[in-house]
Amino acid sequence: MVQYMYILKHGDDYVKTKKLLMIPGPTPVSRSIQDQMGRETIAFSDVNFVNDFNYCLRELKGIVKSDSEVFVISGSGTLAMEMSLANVLKKGDNLLVVSHGYFGDRFIDIAKNKGINVDVLSAEWGKSVPIDLIRETLKKKAYNAITVTHVDTSTGVKADIKSIGEMLREFPEIIYIVDGVCATAGEEEYMNDMNIDILFTASQKAFGVAPGLLILWANEKAMKARERLGAISEYFVDFNNWLPIMHEPSKYFATPSVNLIWALKESIRLINEEGIENRIYRHELFGKAYQKSLEELGFKILADERYRANTLSNVLYPDGIEDELFRNTLAIEGVQVAAGLGAFKGKMFRIGHMGNIDKHDLISSIASIERTLYKFNIDKLSKGVNVIQKELVK
Ligand SMILES: Cc1ncc(COP(=O)(O)O)c(C=O)c1O
Repeated sequence: MVQYMYILKHGDDYVKTKKLLMIPGPTPVSRSIQDQMGRETIAFSDVNFVNDFNYCLRELKGIVKSDSEVFVISGSGTLAMEMSLANVLKKGDNLLVVSHGYFGDRFIDIAKNKGINVDVLSAEWGKSVPIDLIRETLKKKAYNAITVTHVDTSTGVKADIKSIGEMLREFPEIIYIVDGVCATAGEEEYMNDMNIDILFTASQKAFGVAPGLLILWANEKAMKARERLGAISEYFVDFNNWLPIMHEPSKYFATPSVNLIWALKESIRLINEEGIENRIYRHELFGKAYQKSLEELGFKILADERYRANTLSNVLYPDGIEDELFRNTLAIEGVQVAAGLGAFKGKMFRIGHMGNIDKHDLISSIASIERTLYKFNIDKLSKGVNVIQKELVK
């Protein structure tokens, strides 16, 4: 049994430790992005804002290498999930959900609420649904759409969205919907190349903006599917209500989040400055280095090595470590992480390493984890830091 030997003592509270926000969203918001939210708000019809909104809409297409329509709307990732289904499926249509965890499963509830027939292919948490199984399932019924969560934040499993997209060329009628909430701008996600019809994300993940915006891309095939539906019962998420605004942002449908869109603009500027390919490479380097370092400290990563995400790690505790005590101690040591979900609640913590974070954040958060372990009588001081330092200078 691991013994917790920590008592609050001199040194813990005489300096206030800076808290690194390492939950898998919201992620840290850089100073220059924060500053945009503090600006004096102006009218959404102001020519300066219209220009800024247009910049976002134009540049967002480049980030996912797509010539599709793009929607930037107030709301979170869940609203984008709803928007993706509402605009291409009607009651009685067939949807195949490929689920690698909690957020994959969320599509089931949303679809059932709409009277859509849902079939589900689920993997054991940490594993991935084989592509052959997806192909065989699609042959059995006339499916209208398929949903795949690129990175399921509950398991840290990354789906092979490129190979699935390739396979889907055999089924040209099916709309391919990808949830990129925990992936876009941190994992490779190129819509045209990967044959994706609808992709969406939210502002608070790898874009490093505060929560409050969803971004959804829909290609020509998806827009045609919307046309075929005619009138739909949803109002706020109807593509038809937003499309005129996305083509001419001075028009009104519902008030845009002026300051968040400025923040998004700055985030896009930072992404373009880094270069999207470099950014994805950085996320891959950081993700691998981080996971190796955590393993050195005696943790196991839930996701099988073949399917691990760049953007976050889902970290299983060694025997005897009490979850809440660990996370609270780690918070005192300066790092905030998230709890496990579903059956892994209490057995794991989730730590994000996406968006606008740097080597300092990675190394000092590993050092904080080491200090926390030390308080649980596990002396791994400098072991994880040693590994991550070497990985980061390779
Ligand atoms: C993969 C994925 N999809 C959807 C969601 C839902 O997004 P939101 O919490 O912004 O509604 C999340 C949230 O973490 C997520 O990680």
